[in-house]
Amino acid sequence: MEVYNQNLFGDKTIKVSLYFAHDYLDSELDLKDKNVVVVDVLRTSTTMITGLANGAKEIIPTDSIASAGMIGRNSGSQALLCGERNAKMIEGFNLGNSIKEYSEENVKGKILVFNSTNGTPSLMKAKFSRNCVVLGFVNISRVAKYFLELKEDFIIMCAGRNGAFSLEDTVCAGMLVSLMLTRGAHNKIVLTDSSLGASKLYSSYKKDLLKMLQESEHGIFLTSIGFEDDLNECGKVDVYNLLPVLKNGVIKSVEAFAADPKLTMKKITQKNAG
Ligand code: MLT
Repeated sequence: MEVYNQNLFGDKTIKVSLYFAHDYLDSELDLKDKNVVVVDVLRTSTTMITGLANGAKEIIPTDSIASAGMIGRNSGSQALLCGERNAKMIEGFNLGNSIKEYSEENVKGKILVFNSTNGTPSLMKAKFSRNCVVLGFVNISRVAKYFLELKEDFIIMCAGRNGAFSLEDTVCAGMLVSLMLTRGAHNKIVLTDSSLGASKLYSSYKKDLLKMLQESEHGIFLTSIGFEDDLNECGKVDVYNLLPVLKNGVIKSVEAFAADPKLTMKKITQKNAG
């Protein structure tokens, strides 16, 4: 386990806030210039992380099926229309939202034009953020490392489920908080009731994340329509050392942004700010 030197923080503190569903935020302006992490464990975060890990060129989250279709049609053969309604592939799209669809064979080199029920609306709410990254269990240590190094306040935005609390998103958020506490920021993190509550919820499920997913409302629904294997995939911890970043309306790995001068993201670090 990587432990960070407490001295890294000096007297700085990191406030971690949390919203249980994107619907708790009225407008994109609520997150303007904020550091945000979006989590939609079942399944948009996990499919996006998996797609980038398997070589997708970039992901474009959209605010409607119609806008996805328009962007897709204007993007030529390099684009795939991806996403779901009621967890099933949208008619006329290329891919649904099941993890196994995001194989290297299907997505390598492709632009994934994405629309889903709760995941993409959450990402659209973060379009004016200062920094926005995507979290799942599958990349959680990489996300924890990012925020420990950023050393700035941030907001965890759970996608939620149709405006309501999502057990899996909140447990994943709580794991992120717990990892940060144990990896060097213990006395430097200031929690709100929601982020503290999420960390306590994680403590009660950490021994069996798959069981938690199987008990969740959305997990039960996905299982009922034949997507039980997605629960296995979405519950795996640290499968990928990949940090997806939303910048200029596009999601790429942080490394891909660094390598692409056109889309260089503003890295907000102590060094740059000095
Ligand atoms: C969502 O965006 O609400 C979920 O990812 C839906 C799903 O894929 O089951």
